[in-house]
Amino acid sequence: VNRAPHVSFPIRTRGRRPSAADIVEGVMSGQLPAGSRLPPVRVLEAQLGMSKNTAQAAYEELASRGIIEARAREGWFVRSSTSATTGTCTRTSTRAELLPPPALPTPRSARISLSTVFVDPELLPREKLADCARSVLKQPGLKPFYDAQGLLTLREAIAARLQRRGMEVTAANVVVTVGSQQALDIVSRTLVTKRIATETPVYPHARMLFESAGLAIGGLPLDPFAGPDLDAWEKAIAELRPGLLYLITSFQNPTGYSYSTHELERILSIATAHDVAILEDDWGSEMLSGSEYRPMLRLLGGENVLYVGSFTKKLWPSMRVGYVIAPESLVPSLVGAKRVSTLGGAQITEAIVAEFLERGYYDGHLEKLQAELDARYAACLDALRELMPDDVRWTTPGGGPTLWLELPSRIDLVALSARLAEKGVAIESADSAFVGERHLNGFRVSYAYSPPPLLREGLEILAKEIR
Ligand SMILES: Cc1ncc(COP(=O)(O)O)c(C=O)c1O
Repeated sequence: VNRAPHVSFPIRTRGRRPSAADIVEGVMSGQLPAGSRLPPVRVLEAQLGMSKNTAQAAYEELASRGIIEARAREGWFVRSSTSATTGTCTRTSTRAELLPPPALPTPRSARISLSTVFVDPELLPREKLADCARSVLKQPGLKPFYDAQGLLTLREAIAARLQRRGMEVTAANVVVTVGSQQALDIVSRTLVTKRIATETPVYPHARMLFESAGLAIGGLPLDPFAGPDLDAWEKAIAELRPGLLYLITSFQNPTGYSYSTHELERILSIATAHDVAILEDDWGSEMLSGSEYRPMLRLLGGENVLYVGSFTKKLWPSMRVGYVIAPESLVPSLVGAKRVSTLGGAQITEAIVAEFLERGYYDGHLEKLQAELDARYAACLDALRELMPDDVRWTTPGGGPTLWLELPSRIDLVALSARLAEKGVAIESADSAFVGERHLNGFRVSYAYSPPPLLREGLEILAKEIR
């Protein structure tokens, strides 16, 4: 029987065995909330050395006064109508003053989510993760402790993967984080120069995180059709003199833009000329088709680039495993910041991801995911070509999870979004993604989340509302 826990009440025995009267007095003075379960008589016997009969007599006395009641097979309870409560829990209002929540895009639950950055759960490797989880939990050597830098076997597996892509990295350079969001957090909190430059529009949770860390943010306009105007960027960087340049190099969120090698090289030379470090957020380079990998700044730019990666979107978002690759000299500061905020990560989850990588499941999974994303990308383009009015434009990122859909300026995105919501379709306004002026009038379209027929249905509704 799953019984409620029982309460305790004060019993003043003054060194002698408690009497039934002591129990009665204790319950009466105990300010016990209605519905509380009283200690069973065997507990009073064990704790106070009184006989069960005495305790039982005291409870019966209280029951006869209407203060407690016996419930079959459950024990004695304080009655809800006439209770022994001499005072009630005082309801004071809070004196805690907190800052208002940041103005982040509110995730709308809708039948069709057109802008989500998540991958269709049906495409995630649930069974194989379950196999790894079972195996990890059965390991005789499983330790209940954690390494604040992250589980060594996971750091080794991450380093080995990145080495295969040409990166010079060892487990000592890897700090495992709670999603890549924590990587951004510990970097921004430890940054000495409190200025950062980012693309605009940019992933809003990064922008707000930088703001909450007290960083001044300079926006570098990114037009997903024309690419970045790197001369203008260089001017802005020279003016702001940031400590860090934050860039999402593949499938930039929210524009879906991926930088060419030529652009990445120019960015590196700007960073060198202006003495700026780079924070590369690579959530996307593994989502491109086949064996093609997008170039990474970290590969071209060496240790001046702090490189952030994540398994969340591609494996299982709630497992919350990401990482940052940093020069060994910076690792202690990053691990220190992580310890201050969370002590360590969820090492069991880290062990599951490590096992998944060691068994070679990740590569197989990515291959299947990439093929499916390619097919969905093609279906999305077909649907857009067929359905959208002539003055609507979209980017063609070549695969991956998202593209940018740009609407004519006469279309009000707030009104459109409200009308779509009524029809069960959600789009994410990019409002909070802009640093400074808004130079685009569109939003992210994701083909990774909805199966093609559902995406098409969403795009049909969208095209109709635009018209
Ligand atoms: C560009 C980018 N970086 C980082 C994150 C954080 O993701 P996570 O903490 O799940 O790795 C996201 C999430 O959407 C993102 O879009």
